[in-house]
Amino acid sequence: MQNTSNWIKVLTLTLGAAALAGCAGVSSKTTPAQISAQPFGATPEGTPVTLFTLRNANGVEARICNYGGIVVSLKVPDRNGQLGDVVLGYDRLEDYIKDSPYFGCLIGRYGNRIARGKFTLNGRTYTLATNNGPNHLHGGIKGFDKVVWEPKVLATPDGPALELRYLSKDGEEGYPGNLSVVAVYTLTPDNALKLEYTATTDKDTVVNLTQHSYFNLAGKGDILGHLVMINADRYTPVDSTLIPTGELPLVEGTPFDFRKPTAIGARINQDNQQLKFGNGYDHNWVISKPMGQFGLQARVTEPTTGRVLEVLSTEPGLQFYSGNFLDGTLTGKGGWVYQFRNGFCMEPQHYPDSPNQPNFPSVVLKPGQVYKHAMMYRFSVQR
Ligand code: GLA
Repeated sequence: MQNTSNWIKVLTLTLGAAALAGCAGVSSKTTPAQISAQPFGATPEGTPVTLFTLRNANGVEARICNYGGIVVSLKVPDRNGQLGDVVLGYDRLEDYIKDSPYFGCLIGRYGNRIARGKFTLNGRTYTLATNNGPNHLHGGIKGFDKVVWEPKVLATPDGPALELRYLSKDGEEGYPGNLSVVAVYTLTPDNALKLEYTATTDKDTVVNLTQHSYFNLAGKGDILGHLVMINADRYTPVDSTLIPTGELPLVEGTPFDFRKPTAIGARINQDNQQLKFGNGYDHNWVISKPMGQFGLQARVTEPTTGRVLEVLSTEPGLQFYSGNFLDGTLTGKGGWVYQFRNGFCMEPQHYPDSPNQPNFPSVVLKPGQVYKHAMMYRFSVQR
């Protein structure tokens, strides 16, 4: 029964897609911008999952499924116009469900860590799951990355878009308040995947939503040769469990200075306490621009293919993670065995553990307010 209704939904969306292709308003170089949908299996509970394919007129293609809001693949051109998939992940839904280090997921209700899984709001202490050593990570045991979202295809002036909705119930994973979340993924004519998150609540709560794609702009090997620029003068050093100490020191003179493009591998093995704690880079940078203002957080260039990724966001922080937990035990798309540092993440967000750090920008959302985070992964090439 559920499967039949899923098929009807898929057909409806495909029809919607045909209409969208005609009205996306994108000047057609090769094919019109479009979106299509296909079945992507079902969860162990039997809930069907759909894989959506967004394509723009340049042939750039993003595949997103409504389980976990996962970006399953992202094909962008290199300097010779050759399209290649630049994100890590799996071919099959069941592999995402079985064992995934958050490949491509939508992360919430609170992205990153909350110390000891506890925070106090309005005098009441809330207890969350401790799923990362002594700490809470990425929303808990069943975060937003492991739930099925309600999909809707949208025609927007910016290109084909997928809207995902989810109601996170009061008390889910220990968080207060019914949180109503909307995420919109848009593939723009200028080869960017734009993500817009909004959320409202009926009780004071904490929110920090982000995207957890693992990139490899070469589509193979390790990421140590990628050149990274991060628009930040300061970062948030951590303790041995990756909880910020609360200080915001300057990056100058440290391996955390990415103000000029520097290879990820250039300093990653330096004898540095912070790098030891992260087993590489797994830190949050304090972005040098006013919070709430949409702008550049980071630029990553891959010299052999010329692919460039720019990360833009309204958020005050950026977690740059160099794939230090990848260890060759997971086999991904096309049989690629993901070895140590074969992918990196750029996660625009609030600083980790903000609910417990009074000096960090607030992550509290109150009834009547709207949480908004706009971010973008924009692709181009360097010749
Ligand atoms: C984030 C964290 C990392 C790690 C990954 C998932 O980037 O900061 O420590 O947990 O997610 O493996």
